[in-house]
Amino acid sequence: MVILENQIFKNAKNSDFFLQRYLNKKKEKSKIFDAINYGLFSGGKKFRSFLICNTGEIFRLNKKILVAVGAAVECVHSYSLMHDDLSCMDDDNFRRGKPSTHKVFGESTTILAGNSLLTLAFEILTSNQLKCSSSIKSELVYALSSCSGYKGVAGGQYLDLKFEKMKIDKNKILEMQNKKTGALISFCLESAAILANKPKDRIFLKKIGFDIGLLFQITDDLLDIFGNSKKTGKLTRKDNKKGKATLFNKIGFNKTIEFAYFLFDRIKERLEKKYGTRAYSLISSVEFLLKRER
Ligand code: IPE
Ligand code: IPE
Ligand code: MG
Ligand code: MG
Ligand code: MG
Repeated sequence: MVILENQIFKNAKNSDFFLQRYLNKKKEKSKIFDAINYGLFSGGKKFRSFLICNTGEIFRLNKKILVAVGAAVECVHSYSLMHDDLSCMDDDNFRRGKPSTHKVFGESTTILAGNSLLTLAFEILTSNQLKCSSSIKSELVYALSSCSGYKGVAGGQYLDLKFEKMKIDKNKILEMQNKKTGALISFCLESAAILANKPKDRIFLKKIGFDIGLLFQITDDLLDIFGNSKKTGKLTRKDNKKGKATLFNKIGFNKTIEFAYFLFDRIKERLEKKYGTRAYSLISSVEFLLKRER
């Protein structure tokens, strides 16, 4: 676990370095620019970028290219968290161990900074900082945009808010989690196959990505109940107060844990069968999700 934590930390540094250099070239003195930087470099795990780099190992892809695609995904992810914390959404005042962006910069600036981060992702993918063919870039843009909109992150966030304090059946909860968290995580795996130009692997990895996304959201929900806010960097025990629809609330602790291990075993088995030892890094990064405290 210590080795894995170190790898995650190193990956976050690489991702931040890429983004800092990118933004430095376009620096300006304004509150919206400061809010973008605050939300982006506030100490997140950058786990999605880590997944992209580890999936890239399967195809022995160039690390610099993977870091650039990972940076684009982290822009979408940070935007989604900045908006997620707004008072009209989860109304959370702490994120990544610090006051949420809207607490420091205000709601309107945070909304606009979030919008800018979403578009920055596509700017990075189409910029000359990403060295790959225009047809691959166009595939990446298509896939990332479809998983960010109403069929992905935004649609999932919509359902998450709509389902508050409602009795929701298990399949609807899974649909909500697949959209709000699974879609972006599935892009992380899919993007490596896009870069490698392997259409069949693309379908296979995208599917595995949804399992990883589900596992990710299940452990996030469990951390809200059993976690330590000093480690998670956000206030805990808030989901129940808000009446969030979670798998834990639907099927209870034992069945949720059982389902998490079922997902992990399925992910591991499928990846090992198809890629053997080449999938080792990806599998161990998924194992992190079962043990994570942040
Ligand atoms: C939290 O994501 C939001 C969810 C999708 C559950 P992370 O746990 O990746 O948050 P950071 O980026 O490390 O802060
Ligand atoms: C957020 O889920 C998912 C997003 C797409 C932003 P949560 O609302 O559970 O994330 P946290 O717990 O606030 O990080
Ligand atoms: Mg939320
Ligand atoms: Mg939230
Ligand atoms: Mg949560």
